[in-house]
Amino acid sequence: MWASVISAGNAVVAHPASLNDPGVSTLFLTVGLPGAGKTTRARQLAEEHRALRLTPDEWMIPLFGQSQPPGKRDVLEGRLLWLGLEALGLGTNVVLDFGCWSRDERSAIRWLVASVGASCRLVYVPVDHETQRARVAHRQSTTPDRTFPMSEADLVQWRTLFEEPDASELEGRRVGDPPPGWPGWREWAADRWPSLV
Ligand SMILES: Nc1ncnc2c1ncn2[C@@H]1O[C@H](COP(=O)(O)OP(=O)(O)OP(=O)(O)O)[C@@H](O)[C@H]1O
Ligand SMILES: [Mg+2]
Repeated sequence: MWASVISAGNAVVAHPASLNDPGVSTLFLTVGLPGAGKTTRARQLAEEHRALRLTPDEWMIPLFGQSQPPGKRDVLEGRLLWLGLEALGLGTNVVLDFGCWSRDERSAIRWLVASVGASCRLVYVPVDHETQRARVAHRQSTTPDRTFPMSEADLVQWRTLFEEPDASELEGRRVGDPPPGWPGWREWAADRWPSLV
């Protein structure tokens, strides 16, 4: 099912064989730490694949300003995920620019994408600490309207929380079971993103 895993620029991407099938739409899921370059890569993918790009910050900032009111990101992401699944069902490629630090989040999204008959491709954008710090500082000074303020302490803490995708995920192997106590990924996702259903 999965044809190859290649490295494109600084992004590690997996290529399912179904990407070659013009009848199957694809969801590209960006994965990586803040400031890694995900949205930059997402823009390229959207252009290359005529994909609908869904970048939460481009909704959060116009809707809620530079602060992040508690709970708003989760409900926004749920609706964007819902919209992305609708678009896939209509045959449109989608770039879901979520970052997705958690393996469970990625598994849930992969499962949901498969459930609508589409293909999912993880696009991991790795970044070392110094490069990340430089990119965050550069963005803050050049395009402050496109980002939220990030401190050095934030960057250090977030790195400890990030679950790097493993080979199994990047190669698109079968999605495992949801965490104990959950009947399925659909239920897990509806709890994680309350506005999904
Ligand atoms: N490959 C690259 N080389 C140099 N600079 C880059 C590269 N990719 C992105 N940048 C710059 O780094 C900054 C952060 O990039 P970008 O906004 O794409 O990151 P991000 O991963 O989407 O961050 P966030 O998670 O906060 O949304 C931007 O100023 C962007 O222009
Ligand atoms: Mg971004």
